[in-house]
Amino acid sequence: MAILKIARMGHPVLLRQCEPVAEPGAPEIRRLVADMMETMEDAPGVGLAAPQVYQPLRLFVFRVPGGRVSSDPQDAPQPNTVLINPTLELVGDEREIGWEGCLSIPDLRAAVPRARHIRYRGVDCDGNVIEREAFGFHARVVQHEYDHLDGILYPMRMTDFRYFGFNEELNRAAATQAQTGA
Ligand code: NI
Repeated sequence: MAILKIARMGHPVLLRQCEPVAEPGAPEIRRLVADMMETMEDAPGVGLAAPQVYQPLRLFVFRVPGGRVSSDPQDAPQPNTVLINPTLELVGDEREIGWEGCLSIPDLRAAVPRARHIRYRGVDCDGNVIEREAFGFHARVVQHEYDHLDGILYPMRMTDFRYFGFNEELNRAAATQAQTGA
């Protein structure tokens, strides 16, 4: 396995419409998925899409650690998961604003609106179908990663650019606010 180099915003591979994976069980796809899992854990991150490692293919890996689950009662931790050739359906009209970062946009985060409730479906390298409903942070991660397959980065989903900043500054501001209660 290997830690892969991550493409940063500005590289054209991140703006492409990605191609379906012809053979999800092919040795090179299995290797890519294993390397992407390792790269995601090493970063550390909660998701990584193939174009972020210079492969314009419709697949991504993600996870929802227990500590990242939102207050949504239907949100839940998710193990390391790969979705190859996924489909995504937004359920209902409910939208939520939440913080997002991206391994291709280091040091920054922003408040981004996303659907609260989704359904998704894909396959893994063994051809098993993965089909889940997702809410809250779980739904957010999958929408963020799915967007990468269509060349969409989270700033392109933003509606209020006041909530876009460097982690260092946002963390400092939050700490000051907690201290003063202001
Ligand atoms: Ni991303």
